[in-house]
Formats: sequence, C-alpha cells, structure tokens
Amino acid sequence: MARYLDSVPLSGITFIRDLMYSVKDPFRLDQGDLSFDAPDSVKEAMRRAITDNRSHYLQTNGLPQLRELMAAKLRHRNRIPVDSADEVLVTNGGMHGIYAVMQALLEPGDEVIVPDPEWPPTVGHVMAAHGVPVGCPLYESRGWRYDLDELEKTITPKTKVLYVNTPNNPSGGVLTRDDLERIAALARAHDLWVISDEAYEDIVFDGAEHISIASLPGMYDRTIPIYTFSKSYAMTGLRLGYVAIKNDAMRSRAKTVVAYTTGNVSSIVQYGGIGALEAGRACIDGFVTELEARRTVFYDGLAELGGIFTGQPPRAAFYAFVKIDPSWKSTPEFKQAGKALAGHGESLSWRMAEHLITNGRIGNVPGEDFGAQGEGHIRFCFARDRKELAGAIESMKSLFAVKV
Ligand SMILES: Cc1ncc(COP(=O)(O)O)c(C=O)c1O
Repeated sequence: MARYLDSVPLSGITFIRDLMYSVKDPFRLDQGDLSFDAPDSVKEAMRRAITDNRSHYLQTNGLPQLRELMAAKLRHRNRIPVDSADEVLVTNGGMHGIYAVMQALLEPGDEVIVPDPEWPPTVGHVMAAHGVPVGCPLYESRGWRYDLDELEKTITPKTKVLYVNTPNNPSGGVLTRDDLERIAALARAHDLWVISDEAYEDIVFDGAEHISIASLPGMYDRTIPIYTFSKSYAMTGLRLGYVAIKNDAMRSRAKTVVAYTTGNVSSIVQYGGIGALEAGRACIDGFVTELEARRTVFYDGLAELGGIFTGQPPRAAFYAFVKIDPSWKSTPEFKQAGKALAGHGESLSWRMAEHLITNGRIGNVPGEDFGAQGEGHIRFCFARDRKELAGAIESMKSLFAVKV
C-alpha cells in the first residue's frame, strides 16, 4: 500500500479553498486565481474546436502546432535555445508539469533545495517523488531573495536539484541576473539539475525583469523550465502548461509520466492554447496594467488599517505577502482562534487566517503554510476585482476596529 502518500502534505491553500466554499458572500483572496476571464482568442479557438469535433485522442506530448508555437515563444521571449518542438511537452497545467519532472528526475532520498517561503505543492511534489525537500530562506530584507553563500552551504552530496521559482509565490521576490548567474555556477560546480518554475513570468511590475535561468549559457542542458497558461492568460481552470527538456532520457521519462497520468491533455484546451499564442501578448499587457492598479488599491487599503499588516508592495506576481503585527498575539481574538483551522498550535499566521475567514469572510493563506520563513506573514491575492478587494478592506476595518 502506498503509505508514503499519507506523509505527502495537502497544502493549507487546498484546505482553505475548500473551506471558503462554505462561507457566505466570501472575499476570495485566498487562492491564486484572477478575476479576469480567459481572452476571447482562447474562447473562440475552443468553440471552433468543439464545432470541428476536435474531441479525439491526441499525441501524448501534445498537438504539434501548439508545441511549435510554444517552442517559438521559448526561443524568442524566454531566450532559451530550444532546438525543436520535440523538446516541448504539453501538460495539464504547471502542477502536472512539476509532477512529471520530479518523477522523471528523482531517485529515493535525493535532496531538492526549495525556497522558503515557497508555493506549498512544491514540497509535496518532491515528497511524492520520494525525494527530500530542503528549504533555503529567502529574506524579506533582500527583497525576498537568497543569501547565496547560504544557498551554497545548503548543498550536500545528496543534493540533486535546485528548485528556482522566480518570480516567487508567495513573496513576489524576483531573482536578479547576478543571482541567477551565481546559482548557475553552483549548479555547474556541483553537477545539479535546476527546475525553473516560471509560473509568474509575465506578472512583473516597476520595470522588474524576469530572466529564465535556462537562457544563461549552457544552462538549458541541465535546466527544466516549467510554464503555465493559468496566470498569464487567466486560464486557471482550463489546465494548460508545458515544459521544455533538452535531455533525451529525461524527456522520455517525463513523457512516460504524462502518458500514465493523462494520456493527453484535453484536446479542446490545447486548441485554446493555440488561440492564446497566436493572438499575441496584448491581453497579457492589459491584465498586468490592471493588476498593477489593483496592487495600489489594495496596499492603500492595508495602509488604512493602522499597522496590523505591513510590507513593501511586490515587484511581481499578484500577492500581498505582509507581516502581521506581532502584538496581535495578546488580543482576545488570537486566543479565541485555533478551532476552525486547528492543529497549528500558537502560530500567529494560522490564528490570523482563521480570524479573517470566520469573522471577516476574507480568504487568505497563513504564511507558515509556505515554510518556516513565512511564519508571521499572511498572503492575500490582489488579482480579484476592485470591488472584491474594497469589500475585503472594509471587512478588515471593522475587524480591527479602524475608525473611518
Ligand atoms: C509558483 C507556482 N508554480 C506553479 C503553479 C501551477 O499553476 P497551475 O497548475 O494552475 O498551472 C502555481 C499556481 O498557483 C504557482 O503558484
């Protein structure tokens, strides 16, 4: 029996998402879903695919036309030297891409260095592939980036993979070119693989630059970059992603995993992906402009709460990952929490998460769910529409008795 699965955690995000469906009139600032609808180019392409009866089995690794478009995007936008569309594997979202790659790379006991804080399923994916996740801190004082000397010291003879996630969820931290060059040097020196999770590649603000580590000289040989349509095209529920793998043996293993876990990704959704990539980037630019405005609206609102949540607005992704005023621990509300989200002891972030959900109808994710480094923080998704963000702020004002 697969008892090991009992120790693979389901993230707090999953638990809270399910809990939020039972909250009346909720503010869904918990999961990383955007309020935008998928672009017309995607919907039109899917409609056409349905009318044209594109409802049959497909190639395991994805529609050739879609993979050609993905390969071109990887070459031109991400500057990754992809030789041919054969190197691209279409997946059922980024989640499935990470799963396939971890299963393809890891032997039992291999260590994978993951950022702390980090999107929780990353750790779960490592464990599901019988690997050992090893956290390495990102520091708020460094713009949620590593101390790279510390990263180097975290490498052991058992380390197999450096998992890089820039822009980072939850913090919005963006690694610089210098950071990535140093990480690349470490990977070469210690003969490590790099998994590069670029789910938020397009969501960058304030002139921040997203660079794929796979674009650095020679790095694509040992780096597997992972992408999703979820965030860039507001296609979260449609489930479309892709990975590029240069190494033939690894690609063949990942393809085996894709074959056994999905057969092929939904044909209709793959046609939707063609619609997205053929239409160009105007819709993404529109989303990012609006997300930047929502970031301002939300942080202005937080600033009116009298210091209960503080932090710098992120330069990327769409989360406010803010520090909770530690003195909240001495309030009656802190003492009353700990029931609906039980089992997390005296964790400030879990108690606050529960208070916001049960008394304010505000979805959120406690910082501790992202790793030890996230404790004392809380994550709100500001990709919701302005009305929902304003409603959440009003609810917080009454929770924290702010005079308006
Ligand atoms: C860092 C990161 N990677 C990957 C994903 C996977 O997204 P999806 O499975 O929707 O493509 C997410 C989703 O929230 C994410 O935050």
